[in-house]
Amino acid sequence: ADVVVTIPVVFHVVYNSEAENVSEAALLSQLQVLNDDFRRLNADTATTPEYFRPYAADTKIQFCLASIDPNGDLTNGITRTQTTNKSFSYGSDNVKYAEKGGVDIWDRDQYLNIWICNLGGDIQSNILGYAAPPGSRAVNDGVVLHYSSVGAPPANNFKWNYNMGRTATHEVGHWLGLGHIWGNGSSCTDSDGIDDTPNQRYESAGCHSGIKTSCNDSPFGDMYQNYMDYSDDACMNLFTKGQADYMNTILATSRASILN
Ligand code: ARG
Ligand code: ZN
Ligand code: CA
Repeated sequence: ADVVVTIPVVFHVVYNSEAENVSEAALLSQLQVLNDDFRRLNADTATTPEYFRPYAADTKIQFCLASIDPNGDLTNGITRTQTTNKSFSYGSDNVKYAEKGGVDIWDRDQYLNIWICNLGGDIQSNILGYAAPPGSRAVNDGVVLHYSSVGAPPANNFKWNYNMGRTATHEVGHWLGLGHIWGNGSSCTDSDGIDDTPNQRYESAGCHSGIKTSCNDSPFGDMYQNYMDYSDDACMNLFTKGQADYMNTILATSRASILN
């Protein structure tokens, strides 16, 4: 898009232990990470290799905290709810339902709902977050984040590879229709449907450097720096122009009501 569009966000913090009651500083930091990453104002753009920089995009999508709640009252865009649930499973989606120990959605046509909770397991669990793609049912639309993935240091003080707030960047990418860069299969023919992301055989993990090639369709190898891969937070730093165009198309069509 030529114009910058702004998506109102509500963070629903659903906590059992105090550690899960993510601080306001961490939430504000998370919002900043989303804005930086989507506008390509992230501090680590120089980490994008020179050969991929021509593809890197300012998506022209930005985020603000909601200022009016569904009743028309003022809000800071944050809800906090204590729950008796020790954790929430990805499969159950219970965090999105008050009667199941979570918090009911705010109208998905007006807000991007981001629930924050304990998704169970530990760092090993690998469920850092998940998202409902465009076309999801109205009752469970939005993004869910594991509490320790929220925000960047110093507000996020969890010592692990997912402490820079990029799980949210990745999940909001899914919420705006993007797929995983490797196309979810394990061949070089399945694809994310985006022209300027190279085909890639598998997900990446950890932190790579230099050219790593899994399919023969790109002189520069895999774009493991893409937010829609599985690299560590410190090692992802771009959306492409093709991804930006796709997300803006979703915002102009199936998710258009959120901009009104
Ligand atoms: N596993 C999650 C998903 O597929 C999130 C991965 C996010 N990666 C990261 N480096 N924060 O949606
Ligand atoms: Zn994903
Ligand atoms: Ca592609």
